[in-house]
Amino acid sequence: NPGTASCSFGRQHNYLRISLTEKCNLRCQYCMPEEGVQLTPKSELLTAKEIITLAGLFVKEGVEKIRLTGGEPLIRPDVVDIVVEHLALALFNQQGCHCQLYKLEGLKTIAITTNGINLARLLPRLKEAGLNAINISLDTLVPAKFEFIVRRKGFHKVMEGIHKATELGYRPVKVNCVVMRGLNEDELLNFVDFTKDLPLDVRFIEYMPFDGNKWNFKKMVSYKEMLDTIKQRWPELEKLPCEASSTAKSYKVPHFQGQISFITSMSEHFCGSCNRLRITADGNLKVCLFGSSEVSLRDHLRSGASEEELVQIIGAAVSRKKKQHAEPALMSFPLHQDALQNPPYSKQW
Ligand code: GTP
Ligand code: 5AD
Ligand code: SF4
Repeated sequence: NPGTASCSFGRQHNYLRISLTEKCNLRCQYCMPEEGVQLTPKSELLTAKEIITLAGLFVKEGVEKIRLTGGEPLIRPDVVDIVVEHLALALFNQQGCHCQLYKLEGLKTIAITTNGINLARLLPRLKEAGLNAINISLDTLVPAKFEFIVRRKGFHKVMEGIHKATELGYRPVKVNCVVMRGLNEDELLNFVDFTKDLPLDVRFIEYMPFDGNKWNFKKMVSYKEMLDTIKQRWPELEKLPCEASSTAKSYKVPHFQGQISFITSMSEHFCGSCNRLRITADGNLKVCLFGSSEVSLRDHLRSGASEEELVQIIGAAVSRKKKQHAEPALMSFPLHQDALQNPPYSKQW
């Protein structure tokens, strides 16, 4: 019950990201090596039922938004079918539907972050199942460059996915663009133009270091630099209000349908207001994107832990996070020091 003192992690941590798979059908240069990442044996991955059980527990404790991530969540259509439909049924429940699969009372948003390759094909079903927010990765508007960045084909499929999402009424459709010097920083203004006639939120993301992604300070384009470039062309750019826990700072060119945002993980990190918890595909709880796994929820589930025990375990991990983030040494500016010193090993967002 999110409104009571018994709610151990819900008050601030009301956003859960669940990775459905470590696998991906692309090989973005800033994320994965050509050969892919080392995969966990299937038996060690969470089953759909386990995911639903955990999701239900988190929602009971105050989580209002669940984002499905990967790897690429839409390469597991079987899992997506089950998970999205089950979560969505729960969402419908709370909105008055009769099906009582799981009582995920309080869940307001079921979102997905996808590379968009399979989106146009799956979206009608996902929408019907209740998916209500979509973030799509797209780092370039130039087809040949797309193939260079992601080391695979598929530009037109991603574009089709973006258009499909707008046609099916998603507002806004968020487009994630990781900006890298020498690669796509020359496309900032084209991406701004992309928001002219479409209800998009193009989010320019500061390039972050992850294990093996060859991050280098010189390749990172900061929020300030991006904003300066865009303001030179659009001096009338308007700043929009944002929620305290938002990772994005949003702006709009007046009269454009869409908007742009900046995700400043490196230059102005948002740890202090972070409301996120994560479950990796193999069932580990991570309380910070840059931190290591806190605890295997899968192991506790499989050894028969009760709901109360699980809540206690999760609550303890969240308290450790709060304590860490209260220490000024870990909040050093301008760069996120944890990110530089302790790159996470798995790209599970
Ligand atoms: P919304 O729910 O729409 O706010 O999604 P989001 O922006 O949090 O998630 P998305 O999966 O679209 O990720 C976009 C970018 O946000 C990623 O590239 C990361 O750079 C950044 N991001 C997501 N979660 C975190 C986090 O917990 N910490 C930090 N520092 N960055 C994050
Ligand atoms: N830095 C910043 N963002 C990244 N993403 C992937 N790798 C990086 C990185 N090194 C983005 C993807 C996706 C989101 C989940 O994270 O583009 O949109
Ligand atoms: Fe796949 Fe996303 Fe990583 Fe690209 S950034 S390789 S789409 S998981």
